[in-house]
Amino acid sequence: MPGIRSPSDYSQEPQRHPALKINAKEPFNAEPRRQDLVSSYVTPTEFFYKRNHGPIPIVDDIQRYCVSVHGLIEKPKDLYMKDIMNLPKYNVTATLQCAGNRRTAMSKTRTVRGVGWDVAALGNAIWGGAKLADVLELVGIPKLTSTTPAGGKHVEFVSIDRCKEEKGGPYKASIPLSQATNPEADVLLAYEMNGETLNRDHGYPLRVVVPGVIGARSVKWLDTINIDSQVCQGFFQQKDYKMFPPTVNWDNIDWSTRRPQMDFPVQSAICSLEDVNVGKNGKIAIKGYAVSGGGRGIERVDISIDGGKTWMEASRYQKPGVKYIADEERSDKWAWVLFEAEADINSNTEIIAKAVDTAANVQPEKVQDIWNLRGILNTSWHRVHIQVRHSSM
Ligand code: MTE
Repeated sequence: MPGIRSPSDYSQEPQRHPALKINAKEPFNAEPRRQDLVSSYVTPTEFFYKRNHGPIPIVDDIQRYCVSVHGLIEKPKDLYMKDIMNLPKYNVTATLQCAGNRRTAMSKTRTVRGVGWDVAALGNAIWGGAKLADVLELVGIPKLTSTTPAGGKHVEFVSIDRCKEEKGGPYKASIPLSQATNPEADVLLAYEMNGETLNRDHGYPLRVVVPGVIGARSVKWLDTINIDSQVCQGFFQQKDYKMFPPTVNWDNIDWSTRRPQMDFPVQSAICSLEDVNVGKNGKIAIKGYAVSGGGRGIERVDISIDGGKTWMEASRYQKPGVKYIADEERSDKWAWVLFEAEADINSNTEIIAKAVDTAANVQPEKVQDIWNLRGILNTSWHRVHIQVRHSSM
């Protein structure tokens, strides 16, 4: 691939913020501390979680870098950065969430396979770039196309990183052509994150951002776009990131029985508190995030301070000074909402958050009911424990 290369080891990794919690070193996987995650609506790039499957690629010559678009189309083309930057630029505020978010908590009921994550394997960024729908027009695919005349129905994104799961080959994933060519789906080829040039960890020079869909489909370090008749046959689309029922184990698994996960379900987590907190009785701030997939807004966040017997509603917000109303035009439909509540705590208790999206989908109560062997999509009620230390004074 001209202009960009993939190192064979981890000796040329970028600098990272020292406050990140490292869940795996090589490949580098890390998330911010809970309190750092919700300190602002837009997640600072250095605190944005990093999810990698191989060494981070290096761009040697940005002038030579291009994305090759080919497959079941009439006009295959190599697109250079200038071609992509010449298209109208959009800024889309979107939350990217790894399907493995909150995996560690799921593994406490029964072992699961995969990198352990607390509640911060997600982040909310302003992604700047060209709409994929505009890019595909450059190769002769009109907007709102679900099948090309040659039978192309899926858009496969191929990277250049080397992943052991792909036997040293690149990371890849696909989305339906109908989503890729729908300008309202806001799928981007992003070259900016939070107003700055995308950095190496997050996909420099160009990445896909598929809003409302699990992070796995937002391919970084884009090399090739392949218009195909079938869904991507790569490891991460076929043998990973699929949701199985609790009965399936590593002896009876049949990957072909399940579809690749796309939209993520409704999720929330308390970030102002750790799993177990010891403190004095009195007022306590309960802050966190709530987000749903598919562009569904957050209708409600319920908080319980008595282990789920009674509930109160948290306030929700996105941008300071702007009232958040789900599904309103001024709300960011692809982005999380932050929530806030305050409570008086006088004895040991369990605090719980659960969110409801605009389709009235609610988080499930128990992690046991959604346990799956890969430990994905733990969206069960988020619980933290408070132990009150009464002072003797
Ligand atoms: N793209 C490439 N090329 N290689 C990867 O390992 N990881 C995917 C996706 N795109 C990955 C990738 C996964 S699983 C997630 S959750 C997101 O990138 C993470 O994006 P981030 O590291 O920018 O947060």
